[in-house]
Amino acid sequence: MRINKYIATSGVCSRRKADDLIQAGQVKVNGEVLKEAGYQVVDGDIVSVSGNVIQPIKKYTYILLNKPKGVITSAKDDKGRRTVLDILSENPDITDKARRLFPVGRLDFDTSGILLLTDDGDLTFKLTHPKHEFPKTYHALVQGVISREKELKLVRGVDIGGFVTSKARVKTMRIKSNTSLVEITIHEGKNRQVRKMFEAVGNPVIELKRVSFGQIQLGHLKEGAVRKLTTRELEYLRNV
Ligand code: URA
Repeated sequence: MRINKYIATSGVCSRRKADDLIQAGQVKVNGEVLKEAGYQVVDGDIVSVSGNVIQPIKKYTYILLNKPKGVITSAKDDKGRRTVLDILSENPDITDKARRLFPVGRLDFDTSGILLLTDDGDLTFKLTHPKHEFPKTYHALVQGVISREKELKLVRGVDIGGFVTSKARVKTMRIKSNTSLVEITIHEGKNRQVRKMFEAVGNPVIELKRVSFGQIQLGHLKEGAVRKLTTRELEYLRNV
């Protein structure tokens, strides 16, 4: 098995991140720093990442979290803020596994909603790869009124600072007290993309929530609550 896949299936990180770790000299095979990114691991090899010996995990964990606002989507934070892994560690059903899981993509500190966490590096790699254009749907409460013209601009693509977004699906659900509640589906994952898209049409986001991840729905999962993926959801993700 190629070294980056070996690292990913050990639940350390995605294959792409594994390549970065190899480049950074963090990966050793049989005690020697690995220089060859395409190295094929053979039986009996002892592989370590940042000093920890690793082994492929066969049974993966797939967890859906309704991330609350005010929590960061990463394993650690220099500023000591609460992370999504802190939330998982507090859940008795998954405490022991929590520290091995990593989020599939990101949600901003101020965004709530559906977030998948897993130790399956290959699935993470697939779902976050731009070529798969995996759809994500958000409910955005924005300032002002989203006119039909603005809806069309968002649908066709807007410039969010050197990047023009691809086709989106946009539906205004409610207009009230000079705010609009809009459902938007995008296929990319640029940093703060939805917020930047609404800024580009002059309607800054007040609240943002991700309500679906592909065909997987947030449903009635409470903020801060977790659930396991169903077999059907997992099958869907493996087949996208
Ligand atoms: N777009 C954003 O602006 N924020 C998110 O958290 C996700 C998508």
